[in-house]
Amino acid sequence: MIRRNRCTGGIASIDVTARDNDWDGVRLHVVTGKGGTGKTTVAAALALALARDGRNVLLMEVEGRQGIAQLFDCPPLPYGERKVAVGLAGGSAEAGDVYALAVDPEEAFLEYLAMFYNLRHAGQALTKLGVVDFVTTLAPGLRDVLLTGKAAEAVRRRRGGKPVYDAVVMDAPPTGRIGRFLNVAAEVSGLAKVGPIRGHADTVQSVIRSPQTAVHFVTVLEEMPVQETLDGVAELRELATGGLQIGGIMINMMRPPMLSETDLAAAGTLDTGDLATGLKAAGIEDSRALAKDLAADLGEHARAMELQRTERQRLAAAGQPRYNLPLIPDGMDLAGLYRLAEALREQKAA
Ligand SMILES: Nc1ncnc2c1ncn2[C@@H]1O[C@H](COP(=O)(O)OP(=O)(O)O)[C@@H](O)[C@H]1O
Ligand SMILES: [Mg+2]
Repeated sequence: MIRRNRCTGGIASIDVTARDNDWDGVRLHVVTGKGGTGKTTVAAALALALARDGRNVLLMEVEGRQGIAQLFDCPPLPYGERKVAVGLAGGSAEAGDVYALAVDPEEAFLEYLAMFYNLRHAGQALTKLGVVDFVTTLAPGLRDVLLTGKAAEAVRRRRGGKPVYDAVVMDAPPTGRIGRFLNVAAEVSGLAKVGPIRGHADTVQSVIRSPQTAVHFVTVLEEMPVQETLDGVAELRELATGGLQIGGIMINMMRPPMLSETDLAAAGTLDTGDLATGLKAAGIEDSRALAKDLAADLGEHARAMELQRTERQRLAAAGQPRYNLPLIPDGMDLAGLYRLAEALREQKAA
């Protein structure tokens, strides 16, 4: 943390032990996870959390679902970057802005042609001829490199000597496809020996395989998503030797335990008779039936908590930082997103 002298603005002291957050140098946050675990939601919350101190953040989605527009309650995003929210304020942090972009591979391809060959018109002719369809359906590798390419471009873009975006958050493909998705630039540069495609792929790689990028995993504490996370981390470990940085594990939709450790331990072995007596003493009619239901619920809760504990231990073995995100009980809305952003910031994920 750098402290500035309030009058002169000069650096008063630098505290090297206190980091502002765990991913200080990261400019591209790639968010993956099993579908349905909250990938889009957590990516959006992370963007809100990163948009502080006047920093601008770009939140991008690459799967054409318009999930971000829905989340921020705006009409479907056109192909263009648009401000969707103000970042999380709080403490001394002044909010920055969050922009969103739904990347469309065809548009990205036309942009790419325009950039490298000055071929905007040719590109439009190609669309008419269906060549773009060819590119996006028959060559999924090329499609992926255009999508990661767009992220790399947003990270590198500068205006007036300063980066346009301080951070880019990508709502990325799910765990099963993330390794290939991120490695595709390597494959493409292996295929093309020279020329602009090779140059483009090399640039994309130099961003993705650098300390500027981190790949985060979103999961919930259930067996399948946890297994996918562990498999995904293991797969990316192989790419990590090539410079790819594995990020944090965001444990989403966590339910707080309703009972203390001791009570939880006892919950499985409750005597229904004792419970009924207790309820009766508390003045509750029909205490027998209620006691039976209550004992069943308590047992269920205790088992669920035990399962969560096991899954949490399995995640710990992956050796990556973990962050806990609460279940928002009444469904996700903007207020819920800011709550998740706050939780991420408190735990120094952003
Ligand atoms: N922490 C949370 N609390 C409550 N609901 C959540 C939470 N995170 C995600 N959700 C909900 O779960 C569903 C799936 O989330 P989404 O972000 O679309 O997942 P994914 O992108 O992984 O498919 C959505 O309805 C979303 O509102
Ligand atoms: Mg999604």
